[in-house]
Amino acid sequence: MNETNIMKMLEGLGHPEYFEMLDFVERTLAEKTTEHVGGGKIEIAYSRFDHTKRVLAWSLRLYERSERKDKIDLDSLIIATIFHDVGRAVSDVQKIPHSTAGVPITKAYLEKKGYAAEKIDYVCSLVAQHSDKQRMKEEGLDFGLLMLMEADLLDDMGALGIVMDCMITESRNRDARFEDCFRHITNYTLRMQEEENPMVSPEGIAIWGEKTRITRQFMEALREDIAI
Ligand SMILES: [Fe+2]
Ligand SMILES: [Fe+2]
Repeated sequence: MNETNIMKMLEGLGHPEYFEMLDFVERTLAEKTTEHVGGGKIEIAYSRFDHTKRVLAWSLRLYERSERKDKIDLDSLIIATIFHDVGRAVSDVQKIPHSTAGVPITKAYLEKKGYAAEKIDYVCSLVAQHSDKQRMKEEGLDFGLLMLMEADLLDDMGALGIVMDCMITESRNRDARFEDCFRHITNYTLRMQEEENPMVSPEGIAIWGEKTRITRQFMEALREDIAI
């Protein structure tokens, strides 16, 4: 599956129900009124649905590279990834964490589609726990949950993090200069990449390491370009 396009990746799996699920999540997230994602994301046109698709791409890539495929239920991982942030549609109004808010939405959808109770329980447990990133290094953590958490963290980092930092810099100051972007990237994406590698699986550690390398290399080049 060496695809980079998420829709082509999904087509290759031959499960049309995943597209229906994505449509449902897109429509549900579009109904939201506000989203307190914190930080600079709220200041740009950050799409939670686009984030969901990118996390799905990371889940599929991590799975493809994994040597623990036998310990991961790919179908459940894909469904949980599609639904992992759907709770953001209602969490502000309900004043509960989005991971908790996503559970009844996911459950109702899967029940309506006739999924087995055991499967629904497992998928919902992944949605419910995906925000507990401090548990990633926990002994015996479910491999599917770990993969979802890693995929979630890989989004918005590296090259994409750099672009987002520039967009946030511009949105805060229309007169921003390249040096301002350089500073923002240094304080956000580069700083986060250089903190302790949060990944646990060998494939996650390798991808994060590559993102760190790319970010450092980009910043060295940018420093030279703007001669600071
Ligand atoms: Fe989330
Ligand atoms: Fe997420």
